[in-house]
Amino acid sequence: MYVCICHGVTDSQIEDAVDNGAHTMKQLTHELKIGSQCGKCCQCSKRVLNNKLMKISEAEPRVA
Ligand code: FES
Repeated sequence: MYVCICHGVTDSQIEDAVDNGAHTMKQLTHELKIGSQCGKCCQCSKRVLNNKLMKISEAEPRVA
């Protein structure tokens, strides 16, 4: 699904960027330019980012 129409960025691209170390909106904007034009994709991008970070943290073994 396209998240950022201005730059043609999909949710999969955002998830890949998160896998490659972009863990903040600032880093995603630097990597993929999301939110850098009209800004309408910021909320949806943040949701994709947070869901992906949640999936990563749930997959990691817990350290007591
Ligand atoms: S839709 Fe992402 S900057 Fe416009």
